[in-house]
Amino acid sequence: MNKDFDGKVVLVTGAGSGIGRAAARLFAARGAAVYAADLNAQGLQETADLVREAGGKVRTAAIDVAREADVAALLVRIGDEAGRLDAAFNNAGITGGTYALQDYPAEDFDRVIAVNLRSVFLGMKYELPLLLRQGGTIVNTASVAAITGPGGMSAYAASKHGVQGLTRVAAMENAARGVRINAIAPGWTETPMVVANSAQNPAFAALAKQAIPAGRGAAPEEIAEAALWLSSGASSYVHGQLLVVDGGMTI
Ligand code: NAI
Repeated sequence: MNKDFDGKVVLVTGAGSGIGRAAARLFAARGAAVYAADLNAQGLQETADLVREAGGKVRTAAIDVAREADVAALLVRIGDEAGRLDAAFNNAGITGGTYALQDYPAEDFDRVIAVNLRSVFLGMKYELPLLLRQGGTIVNTASVAAITGPGGMSAYAASKHGVQGLTRVAAMENAARGVRINAIAPGWTETPMVVANSAQNPAFAALAKQAIPAGRGAAPEEIAEAALWLSSGASSYVHGQLLVVDGGMTI
């Protein structure tokens, strides 16, 4: 395995499950020292065990990415312990419920925006000072819902459109300062988030798979590979983009 992340410090949020877990494992396998952050302490522990079993380096942080004090304290900790940050993958997220817009509870809307969008703002706000010291990258997880309008998911789609906007602004502000910032837009990915929804609604799951030209959902590792590429020197001239990884769903 190529160890191009040897000596690098990488923060992954939402690392207690799904895409974030796959990314934590992949970055660690490529040599990075990974900070794995998530609200779910048990999920984080499982991720840490998997990384360590494979010989990787990982530290965990049980935080709420929507809480400014949590995010600020984590970045102070990384600065103190590791003395640097080379890459951040701001990936934690929730879908929220499915309601027609006129029925969407306002407090649920606010929570989805806080977890999916405010978190990306806070993450970048506190990651940038460390990244700017020696240069680095940020990848934010958006979704195909950043470019489409899935019925019933107004908060989710609004939050993910917002992630794309924030990514562009941050990329513009930092392109000349050594920090490249991009976003990924996964399509249907087989993680607990989607598997739980499919179990509740198998007809919807079958329909969704029919709508994917590749005929299947993604494995979390296939999405993590895209985040890794955008964090690596291989994408050194890519700034402010939304990389769609969706099996052709939005063709
Ligand atoms: P997942 O549910 O497996 O993992 C999400 C992780 O985020 C969980 O471990 C959860 O505990 C954590 N999390 C939730 N709220 C948090 C908070 N306030 N603070 C800290 N951690 C928190 O879901 P998955 O699929 O891995 O999702 C990762 C990202 O990918 C999300 O941003 C999601 O919106 C996005 N995405 C997922 C797709 C899919 O089909 N699974 C499609 C498009 C985007």
